[in-house]
Amino acid sequence: MPGYETHEYDVLIVGAGGAGLRAAIEAAAAGVRVGVISKSLLGKAHTVMAEGGMAAALGHVDDRDNWRVHFADTMRGGYYLNNWRMAELHAKEAPDRVRELEQWGAIFDRTPDGRILQRNFGGHRYPRLAHVGDRTGLEIIRTLQDHAVQQSITFHMETTLLTLLNSGGRCVGGFGYERERGRYKLFLAKAVVLATGGIGRAFQITSNSWEYTGDGQALAFQAGAALRDVEFVQFHPTGMVWPPSVRGILVTEGVRGEGGVLRNNEGKRFLFDDVPENYRSSTADNAEEGWRYTQGDKSARRPPELLTRDHVARCIRREVRAGRGSPHGGVFLDIAWIKEKLPNSVEHIKKKLPSMYHQFKQLADLDITQQPMEVGPTTHYFMGGITVDGDTQMTGIDGLFAAGECAAGLHGANRLGGNSLSDLLVFGKRAGEHAAAYASNHAAVGASAVGDQIASAIQRGEAPFERGAQGENPYAIQHELQEMMQNLVGIVRTEDEMEQALGAIAGLRQRAAKVGIGGNREYNNGWHTALDLDNLLTVAELVTRAGKERRESRGGHFREDYPDKDAEWGKVNLELSRGPNGAIESRKIPVRPMPEDLLQAIEENK
Ligand code: FUM
Repeated sequence: MPGYETHEYDVLIVGAGGAGLRAAIEAAAAGVRVGVISKSLLGKAHTVMAEGGMAAALGHVDDRDNWRVHFADTMRGGYYLNNWRMAELHAKEAPDRVRELEQWGAIFDRTPDGRILQRNFGGHRYPRLAHVGDRTGLEIIRTLQDHAVQQSITFHMETTLLTLLNSGGRCVGGFGYERERGRYKLFLAKAVVLATGGIGRAFQITSNSWEYTGDGQALAFQAGAALRDVEFVQFHPTGMVWPPSVRGILVTEGVRGEGGVLRNNEGKRFLFDDVPENYRSSTADNAEEGWRYTQGDKSARRPPELLTRDHVARCIRREVRAGRGSPHGGVFLDIAWIKEKLPNSVEHIKKKLPSMYHQFKQLADLDITQQPMEVGPTTHYFMGGITVDGDTQMTGIDGLFAAGECAAGLHGANRLGGNSLSDLLVFGKRAGEHAAAYASNHAAVGASAVGDQIASAIQRGEAPFERGAQGENPYAIQHELQEMMQNLVGIVRTEDEMEQALGAIAGLRQRAAKVGIGGNREYNNGWHTALDLDNLLTVAELVTRAGKERRESRGGHFREDYPDKDAEWGKVNLELSRGPNGAIESRKIPVRPMPEDLLQAIEENK
């Protein structure tokens, strides 16, 4: 049996995106030994792809904004299935997390009087997104990383966990491998924080980077934790559709926040015809008013392009299916049109949306200051995830915490753009703080307590080599899974298709058990892909099972066979876990009654 290195920490953080780095900083500040595992290189976290901004009710652009409005917007966006305690903490604490980033060196765009500038985004009543052009996530990671490397934190780059370790009902670390040399690594820890991001790589078209294979969700589920709201997958309305090699790459909602409009191939702004009832009074009914809103006119209502993502994505899908799409299967997103309004439109677009300008110029040979972009929905975000306590972020397993996209709760059935970056920081900080406190009150265990778990993880790691190159091809299985999930469990779902999907997942699981690869453990991408398959298949099955069970349409879950919301389903979250015989079990968890003050915040912002 191959050997392994051993590393010991008080708190082990799995993931070095916004949530992981913020948790590490907080835990280190509490004086405990902190180790961070990062699946890719430090600085390459998927957080850098969050472009448009970080939502926080600073009230710099519109002083009517405050935490109560942000809370109400988040709850309404999530169709009231959110963990309201998390939505409350998030709305109250996000402004401090932005100010703290600024103290640590983040350079946000400014208002004319020198305050942090905030931009409009879908579902937010007031301009609320603190931003750095369209590179906000990059600036956040740069700042957190600069800050973190000055603390006493040890980083393990290009390292992936194969399993979490359990002793006496507590999570006591993890076992995995590093990509470069293929060496196995044992991490013993008194507390573990999962901050591994999302599951977008279970789908064919996604804005998510290669690391997003549902690792934290699957590891926690296999370890016995419950997952909730996993039927809710967000399809961002605007990803690139052309050329094929870049299909799915994000086109920030910031384009629409700056005045960009969506048109079909008849030149029509189709969203004007399809405004949901509950947003009608707050949505402009003409182009001029929508434009004035994006330019900061407080008396104007938002353009329909800034309706919530689930709605806009479905409308785009409908236009394409009705034959009114763009040549490559999307619709047109036009920011160039603002030249009719702004004499300096070219400089303005390049200043506000520099990444978009370069992205389209370099990848599609298209100048967005002059021509419309072709865009279509792309799998972007997972509202569901590991069930956590709203205050501490501890999961149902003692000593195991989760924060950011891999944890569930804040966003309910649908996330508002910009609420992810603030989620990472608010709950990353909380997870780090509570994990450190937990670690301070618990003893470490030695490797002998988890010897059998280490042996079985190594056995799993070695199995693809033993089958050799004549085994099943890991890339083929991954590709078939992604294609199948895109087609059968995508933006619009039906019972029959999800039943088919479950059959396909079972078949792919059998094939994954026979996966084989050649070569050795040194930087062997086929091996890494083979080892990711189990996580991808686990999350794909959970999404599909929950989607089949929720017989209604709400937020990121749309059923063609049940196209309406169902009042009873509006009162419950669906939670999945492994039963004693290993089978997946589901429970309907009633939404907890909200305290009077929070109900009032919703009422006053209706
Ligand atoms: O469109 C965007 O810039 C995405 C931001 C987000 O998902 O929060």
